[in-house]
Amino acid sequence: MTASPEVHIVVLAAGQGTRMKSAQPKVLHPIAGHPMLEHVLRAADSLNPATTTVVVGHKAELIAGALAARDDAECVLQSPQLGTAHALQQAEGRLAGRQGTVVLLSGDVPLLTSGTLRKLVQVHRHAGAAATVVTAVVDRPYGYGRVIRSRGRLARIVEERDASPAQRRVREINSGIYAFDAVPLFDALRGIAAGNAQGEHYLTDIISIYRRRALPVETLIVDDPGEVRGVNNRSELAEVSATMRQAKNEELMAAGVTLIDPSSTYVDTDVVIGPDTVIHPGVVIQGQTRIGSACEVQAYVRITDSELADRVTVLNFCVIVGAQVAEGASIGPFAHLRPATRLGKGAKVGNFVELKKTSLGAGSKASHLAYLGDATIGDNVNLGAGTITCNYDGQSKHQTVVEEGAFVGSGSQLIAPVHIGRGAYVAAGSSITKDVPADALGIARGRQENVEGWAERRKQTSPKP
Ligand code: UD1
Ligand code: CA
Repeated sequence: MTASPEVHIVVLAAGQGTRMKSAQPKVLHPIAGHPMLEHVLRAADSLNPATTTVVVGHKAELIAGALAARDDAECVLQSPQLGTAHALQQAEGRLAGRQGTVVLLSGDVPLLTSGTLRKLVQVHRHAGAAATVVTAVVDRPYGYGRVIRSRGRLARIVEERDASPAQRRVREINSGIYAFDAVPLFDALRGIAAGNAQGEHYLTDIISIYRRRALPVETLIVDDPGEVRGVNNRSELAEVSATMRQAKNEELMAAGVTLIDPSSTYVDTDVVIGPDTVIHPGVVIQGQTRIGSACEVQAYVRITDSELADRVTVLNFCVIVGAQVAEGASIGPFAHLRPATRLGKGAKVGNFVELKKTSLGAGSKASHLAYLGDATIGDNVNLGAGTITCNYDGQSKHQTVVEEGAFVGSGSQLIAPVHIGRGAYVAAGSSITKDVPADALGIARGRQENVEGWAERRKQTSPKP
């Protein structure tokens, strides 16, 4: 038989995941910025599969929704869920008549590496096997199917509930990950009955069926049993997350990033950080964030879906979401950059400053206590302490424009829509409602009056206590 080089991926994700005690399907729980299922699919992508099928059942519509962005993965429905063999049978419609290797994955085993998957396909093809089972030798095999060997070769897999005390002592477990030759697979699945402790159609029974038919069965023992760790409850979710986080941190450090305390640094899988950037403890960097080189991110900062160029400083306790920050800018402490914020080269956003849909030009400063929303602020503008753009009238948002080189005095409100011209000044404490032309001074506040001797007179007329 000439083996077709095609690989077909099937991911089992129909189970309820009862022990998660969640309204959300288990495989959609996020780990390091992606649903668990996405990690599984990414590992599978490295095999360049001809088809990818996800077997869904419990909360199928939510999983299908999460997969909508992936045009390569198709969902098939398993309803009711009668066991792992029955789950794989649901893929028959998509795979009937195809040749090659079916790689079966579990949606709740997210640490499996692409390296192990490639090795699985290689071992499976090299042996010309009908089935190759990924196994692991673990200290605590409880709950897993046990690998029963006879004269060294895989004879069958026995589930925990169906195992004898002697079989329960076996420490080699079935990971639930397999490679199958597509040709005999679906016919064999039809031969699996539900005669076991759970009344389910166990995929693991296929091993004894193949042995009886004298079809070759292989195993691949993983070097690191941690890779085939399944997530069944929140505690395992936390453990698997920690493992994934640690791997990401190792990757960053190897690429020249300093992590002052990796154990308290939380960086999502897709984040990119340049060399000589220093990340302090308690920092969370999420989503599609890119950070340049020689930046400093101080403690207790969250950065989500943002781009920071080189030599940017983020001081303690900032939240930065959906922002673009140019080289040499400085942010914080206690600043909040909300979506569609852009900071120009060397711009400075100081403490207690919030920006939203606002661009602050190169060299411009909002150093203290400001709210800047829906604003376009040119280069080298100085916004004094307490500058507020009044962008919302209760119904719509309005734009504020401050041109290059303008100076806005402290405690001013810019009541939008309003335009401050190039090089103009706004006097401190102004409520600006009209445009200020270039090079003009806008002053809009009540005139001060000093009443001479007022305090002295008050003392004399007030009653004594
Ligand atoms: C299964 C294996 C066991 C192995 C373990 C590894 C069987 C009978 N047992 O046990 O040998 O050690 O995985 O983690 O295969 N699923 C469906 N439809 C179903 C049932 C399950 O899609 O009808 C999916 C689940 O969502 C899950 C996967 O299949 O992703 C495994 O099912 P689960 O019930 O967790 O099997 P285990 O008891 O863990
Ligand atoms: Ca499981």
